[in-house]
Amino acid sequence: MKFYLLGYPVGHSVSPPMHNAAFNELGMSHEYSSLGVEPSKLAEIISTRIRADEFGGGSVTIPHKIEMLRLVDELDESAEMAGAVNTLQWKDGALTGDNTDATGGVRALIESYGDISQTNTVLLGAGGAANALAAQLKPRVKELTILNRTEEKARALAERIGTNFGSIIRDQALIESADIIVNATSVGMHPNVGESPIDKKYLHDGQMVFDIVYNPQKTQIMLDAEEAEGRSLGGLWMLVYQGVEAFEIWTGVRPSAQTMYDAAKMALLERH
Ligand code: ATR
Repeated sequence: MKFYLLGYPVGHSVSPPMHNAAFNELGMSHEYSSLGVEPSKLAEIISTRIRADEFGGGSVTIPHKIEMLRLVDELDESAEMAGAVNTLQWKDGALTGDNTDATGGVRALIESYGDISQTNTVLLGAGGAANALAAQLKPRVKELTILNRTEEKARALAERIGTNFGSIIRDQALIESADIIVNATSVGMHPNVGESPIDKKYLHDGQMVFDIVYNPQKTQIMLDAEEAEGRSLGGLWMLVYQGVEAFEIWTGVRPSAQTMYDAAKMALLERH
């Protein structure tokens, strides 16, 4: 069967090598490829290439994640919670939109950190990615605090999910008592390498910093955490686990996260 990544542009995505590595390892003769689709052509592609017998499933990336909410027949709760679709299922003539970005991110965190249920977790950011992650993190941690540059956005998010909030500038000292710090701001992302949303003096041993950015693979906040003898987890693992969960939705089979990580990492290396 055929699996597609729908995006625009999609030239350098690591998703095809990542999923094909898992298909190969499991002896599945499926094929995952990128399909660059201009926004004006999205609806047409859905009715021709996607609603087709040979279509096994798909991924959705920028700029189609929100538009796809309108184009599917059914929305999984995960897509409703995230307000965006990143995974498509085609079954019995119905197209369902799921979202594995945030669930995959939280799963990556748990695989690496262990039990997060007793943690004090601070989430930096209140944009699209932070909103989706916050909803998944809130029921799984002991305490969740949202810190954002624009405090009003942190307030709106915190009120929606029922948690604490503050200013990433004024309330930064709260980082000191955090077990886990999740960076869902764009600070430190290529080309602004070397920048961190927080002062490293608040980081110490025993903490884990999880940055959802994967380019660069080690952001400044991750380097600062390691220098302070804490642990760090990069966004490539989030990318891998959103793929693991999509793969499970499509096939019902659990792929090797390590195989997918190795393939994604190799593709990133070849890209640069
Ligand atoms: P995404 O969809 O990837 O989450 P976004 O919605 O544009 O992207 O959100 C970007 C996040 O990074 C926001 O939380 C933003 O803070 P504001 O809400 O104050 O804009 C945060 N961000 C971006 N640049 C920042 C900077 N220089 N310092 C602190 N936070 C920053």
